[in-house]
Amino acid sequence: MAVPLLDLKLQYSTIRDEVMRVTEQVYESQAFILGKRVDDFERDFAVYCHSRFAVGVSSGTDALLVALMVHGIGPGDEVIVPAYSFFATAGVVDRLGARPVFADITLDDYNIDPAKIEERITPNTRAIMPVYLYGQCADMTAINAIAKKRNILIIEDAAQAVGSEFEGRRAGVLGDLGGFSFFPSKNLGAFGDAGAVTTEDEAMYEKLVDFRVHGMRPKYYHRYVGGNFRIDALQAAVLHVKLRHLESWAEGRRRNAKLYAELFAHAGLGERVVLPRELTKRRHVYNQFVIRFPEGRDTRDRVMNHLRSAGVGCDIYYPLTLPQQACFENVPGARDRYPSSETAADQTLAIPVYPELTRDQMAEVVREVKKGLSA
Ligand SMILES: Cc1ncc(COP(=O)(O)O)c(C=O)c1O
Repeated sequence: MAVPLLDLKLQYSTIRDEVMRVTEQVYESQAFILGKRVDDFERDFAVYCHSRFAVGVSSGTDALLVALMVHGIGPGDEVIVPAYSFFATAGVVDRLGARPVFADITLDDYNIDPAKIEERITPNTRAIMPVYLYGQCADMTAINAIAKKRNILIIEDAAQAVGSEFEGRRAGVLGDLGGFSFFPSKNLGAFGDAGAVTTEDEAMYEKLVDFRVHGMRPKYYHRYVGGNFRIDALQAAVLHVKLRHLESWAEGRRRNAKLYAELFAHAGLGERVVLPRELTKRRHVYNQFVIRFPEGRDTRDRVMNHLRSAGVGCDIYYPLTLPQQACFENVPGARDRYPSSETAADQTLAIPVYPELTRDQMAEVVREVKKGLSA
């Protein structure tokens, strides 16, 4: 039985009529830039995130970029980021001429380790960018405590974590600004690239709205140098439809995570495979279900190759730490060791967790992991 890592066609088949209706309306209106579709989505997305405001943008990367830009972060500034994340987290900092400062993660949740942040702070530290990797929030009590006493900003990289919670509060309201990605594989996925920024602060909201259109207000008068960070009306229309289903999809992912815990335990793999854990005070939304093989990279690679040959989709998120990326070779700190990040890069593997998976498919995944381990 082939089990893909993600099957978006299944999801589409359940919402096809709704999506076709709204996209046709956009085509008929020929109104593609901002406007009512974007306003409606932003309003309801903000409600979903328990946030006062949301601004739709062109991608998750641009959400993080513009979040830094509205704070004027640039040359001479440092932004603390986890040493293990998708590239964009550090890439946006570097693009602005600021310095990404890496801090190691914890293997409990693959998120930045608050204990490692403190030692990275200098007088130039302007922001901390915690990433809620795979769909689980970082320890925001500890991170807020560090940031508040020094007046350091928190930009949440919630790209993978829409709907995740910390102490009952949603990703996007746990820092100063929250950045989200609607890349198709995310829990809320567009039909292309899109993203959003959330904020509780009205002045910041107005600034984000301006920065999204080259810092312009009114038309052709530019107070800031922003960019074209607009979300397409078509994407907003699709996302608005999908938003109504997001909670049930998140619950489906959570249900599957529980089922995997039972299946792996039943298969007697408790020792050899470390499953993701939902930590206290948190709601994990499992954008990825990432398992770890403490025996090391050879074991992980052997299982990965076996799964692929058996038709089970899997992938490594991510094979290198951020400081190991060639483009960061000359960034200070790039040659330091980040043991937990390196362990994550060597030992982890994402397996299918999308909400439409059947119990039989999940049992098959676990069976093949077991075979891969004994191969
Ligand atoms: C942690 C993280 N940050 C940022 C991004 C960037 O989002 P996008 O691909 O929408 O630009 C992603 C998306 O892959 C991500 O996973």
